[in-house]
Amino acid sequence: NIFSFHYLNNNYIMKKNYSNIYSFNKKIIKKTVNFLKLSNIVGLPTETVYGLAGNAYSDKAIKKIYSLKKRPRRNPLIIHYYNYEKAKKDVYFNKNFFKLYKRFCPGPITFVLKKNKNSDISSLATASLNTVAIRFPKHRVIKTLLKFLSFPLAMPSANISSGLSPIDAFNVFEEFKKKLKIIIDGGRSKIGIESTVVDLTNHPKILRPGIISPNEIRNILKTNFSKKKINLRSPGMMKKHYSPGIPVIIGQKPKNINHAYIVFGKRFKSSKNYFNLSKKGDLKEAAANLYKIMRKIKKNGFKKIYVSKIPSFGPGIAINDRLSRASK
Ligand code: TXA
Ligand code: MG
Repeated sequence: NIFSFHYLNNNYIMKKNYSNIYSFNKKIIKKTVNFLKLSNIVGLPTETVYGLAGNAYSDKAIKKIYSLKKRPRRNPLIIHYYNYEKAKKDVYFNKNFFKLYKRFCPGPITFVLKKNKNSDISSLATASLNTVAIRFPKHRVIKTLLKFLSFPLAMPSANISSGLSPIDAFNVFEEFKKKLKIIIDGGRSKIGIESTVVDLTNHPKILRPGIISPNEIRNILKTNFSKKKINLRSPGMMKKHYSPGIPVIIGQKPKNINHAYIVFGKRFKSSKNYFNLSKKGDLKEAAANLYKIMRKIKKNGFKKIYVSKIPSFGPGIAINDRLSRASK
């Protein structure tokens, strides 16, 4: 029976190919904790995007992360903690930090703070800067791990440098195949774009917009960084980034059916080459769909991506930031 042969064969291939993807349970947590203690790297889910995690106190682990990602060494990593108490000896907190921590953590926000002199963080992870980016993720898989570990996790997005961030375990597999011994499947990342990065070392500055908008942050801090032009640059942040691997053109309509069109809102009809980020015009939903849709467009063989206008407030600021970088 040819059909069942194929079926069995496919099943075999499935098993063989994805044997490094694990679902979340006590056994895999234990295995992952031990693996991380030995300075190994694993693929983990977070609520924003999937990450490539390693012991932030270990030079050996950090070197592995940079080489796996092919990331320039001058681009520092975000250090992830269970809670602020675990971060005490690594950074200097300030009032603005506590205001935002109280409101948004655990959650999709990253704080740049001064590095504590007694910090154990590998200087490779911070690209030898005297500041550190720290985050307190919410996803239960990463929270469970951080709770059991005696060190924080350095964790960039789990993609080869300059590509799209992964939002499920299979996306991570596509990037690194069997180079990772463990990828934990924690379902699709609900937020779907990377955390908001806010620099609190001086006057607050947004370095990377995310689902938490500049307005929300401004409302909590009651300081105004609106007069200053928002600085969207982090050290080492490349101009070309978040690239789907095909040209992205903003503000024009597609020329033919071989070009994909990313649209937003209900005024767009359905069409084979139209991809709606959110039919109901919800920017949060649009952000969650952005990378999924860009991957799908690439997979379906389209040669170019055109993008219609997307509102630039709230999460729209982050969506436009990612699209504009993808178009560089
Ligand atoms: O949502 C996220 O933040 C994800 C998940 C996995 O947690 N992580 C993530 O990491 O997006 P990555 O490495 O792809 O982006 C880190 C960003 C970069 O833009 C980097 O330049 C910036 O944070 N960054 C890290 N340390 C910094 C520092 N000391 N000062 C300024 N920017 C910093
Ligand atoms: Mg990244």
